[in-house]
Amino acid sequence: MDTPIRIQFVCLGNICRSPLAEGLFREKVEAHGLGNAFEIDSSGTGDWHVGSKADGRMRKTARKHGLSIEDHRASQFQPADLEAYDHIFVMDKSNLNDVLYLDENDAYSGKVRLFRELDPEPGNYQVPDPYQGGKEGFEHVYQIVNRTAEVLLNRLIDEYDLTPQAA
Ligand code: 4NP
Repeated sequence: MDTPIRIQFVCLGNICRSPLAEGLFREKVEAHGLGNAFEIDSSGTGDWHVGSKADGRMRKTARKHGLSIEDHRASQFQPADLEAYDHIFVMDKSNLNDVLYLDENDAYSGKVRLFRELDPEPGNYQVPDPYQGGKEGFEHVYQIVNRTAEVLLNRLIDEYDLTPQAA
């Protein structure tokens, strides 16, 4: 494929939920031999943590499941990302509101979706913010994001007629 499919995951701080979504989605893409077909990133709507590593509790939970998100550094979602990305998956309705607020002419709203719309067990369609809670919250987020990222990749393989390679 010539032009990669550009995917961005967005949460509030870009230190918990969206770095995990980025890491898990990338892991699945690579396991399917589709690394060249995608450009994958994540960001937060807020700027408090820009430049920081992912939250230690999220890194530990990822590591427990064999995923490293150690290289992640937080960034803030930019209005230009609305144009630059093909699909923008937000973790909760507050993120949805914040991202759509930047879409002044309502030109890109079709690209922006709640990530959990793809979850087979969608609950309230939001990935809960684990930041203030205990460590069980991080495992819960892992389970939600892991199963949803799997569905997302399968949907995109269908939509773009991609050919997965055996790992
Ligand atoms: P995230 O979690 O949006 O999943 O990265 C949060 C991280 C930081 C804050 C809130 C949520 N905070 O308020 O600083």
